[in-house]
Amino acid sequence: MSNFDYVEDAMFGKSIFRAESTLYPEYIPPELPTREEDIARLARNFRSLLGTEGSFSVNVAIVGHAGIGKTNLCKYTMKRFEEAANSRNINVKFLYYNCHSFRSKTAILRNVLSEHFRIQSRGFSDEEILDMLVKRLTKEDIRLIIALDEANMLNSEDILSIFHAGEYFGSEQSMISTIVISRPIEWRSLLNVPLSGHIHDQIDLQGYNRDQLLQILKYRAEKALYATAYSDETLNLIADICSASRNARHGLEILYRSGKLADLKKETSILPDYIRAAKADVYPELRRDVLEELRHHELLAALGVARKLTKQGITSTSVDEGFDSYVLTCEEYGEEVRGKSTFRSALDTLDKVGIIGKSVGPIEAGKRGRRAKITTFDIPATVLVERIENILSKPRNTHDFS
Ligand SMILES: Nc1ncnc2c1ncn2[C@@H]1O[C@H](COP(=O)(O)OP(=O)(O)OP(=O)(O)O)[C@@H](O)[C@H]1O
Ligand SMILES: [Mg+2]
Repeated sequence: MSNFDYVEDAMFGKSIFRAESTLYPEYIPPELPTREEDIARLARNFRSLLGTEGSFSVNVAIVGHAGIGKTNLCKYTMKRFEEAANSRNINVKFLYYNCHSFRSKTAILRNVLSEHFRIQSRGFSDEEILDMLVKRLTKEDIRLIIALDEANMLNSEDILSIFHAGEYFGSEQSMISTIVISRPIEWRSLLNVPLSGHIHDQIDLQGYNRDQLLQILKYRAEKALYATAYSDETLNLIADICSASRNARHGLEILYRSGKLADLKKETSILPDYIRAAKADVYPELRRDVLEELRHHELLAALGVARKLTKQGITSTSVDEGFDSYVLTCEEYGEEVRGKSTFRSALDTLDKVGIIGKSVGPIEAGKRGRRAKITTFDIPATVLVERIENILSKPRNTHDFS
């Protein structure tokens, strides 16, 4: 080989991306084309926080299928709402929580207090914590809006008691408002009569049609790529693919991956073949960061189950078999094996976030009880294995992954 420097080329060589990071999952674009009405509706819901004659808390639900902009709509609108209120000396504070990372009311409340009000709440009960929070909000006249994304990771009682928080503590004003975000099926399993009685507006967000997807793709491609890197034909091809799922993430991931492929092949533009290749690699229901949000032992549990499912001829497995495979996986990684009940609750979590599916089979003759059948959900087991191994091969940092 010549002494061509592959590392340096990868670092500083030509790329078709003008700003690659604008296609990362956490990026919120400065505009949300085609969502104008939903933005206005969401913001309008919180007008009652701005009144001079006291503020009244509001609870809003945003419900809709995968990848249609629920998270973006909420962050985009409420950040601006907060800024606009603050610039007029109305003290509004917007806090966003993804319940994949913060999985209980207690975890969320503690974080609100420690991160945003510098109050340590160790050793206090949830009621005491809420009391401290409400007192503080009242004293400083802060109207708090908490977004609970992926709210199905909490239970209805937890959400209900957050709804109740402002009302309970008897001040004239209610200081805590909530935005609950969920996909429809999960939402139905969460929603009950007491909960729905506290929701002032449920925004049922619709999926995008082909025209809307094309408009979004154009906007995002302009930001992320050089103009020479794609054509109308490129974007139309991608819009064709994702118009069935009505899912913007689906299209944007294909755009991103086909762009990466073009870079890898040292092409100056995205070829239709790259789009087809990228299409096979994208699982539109699965958020790219969902695996990274899992606890360490949950990843190992998922890897154990997925490895079992990659064995030829197997489409589903049982808790016991999955557990055996998990034990082997832990040994391979030199990790402590957790007990079977921990493994079971890890499976529940994986089921909730949509990585595996658990179904209860028929009662088998001669066996006690029903056996749960475990399969992978949206993503094939081999791909799951590859992605988890990849995550486990990197050092992991950030909060509590125990
Ligand atoms: N109107 C829009 N304009 C530009 N980009 C958009 C728009 N709607 C969605 N997107 C992009 O599509 C992707 C998916 O959006 P988002 O994460 O908000 O979906 P979601 O409904 O929360 O999905 P999930 O249920 O999987 O959490 C993001 O990258 C987002 O930036
Ligand atoms: Mg989301």
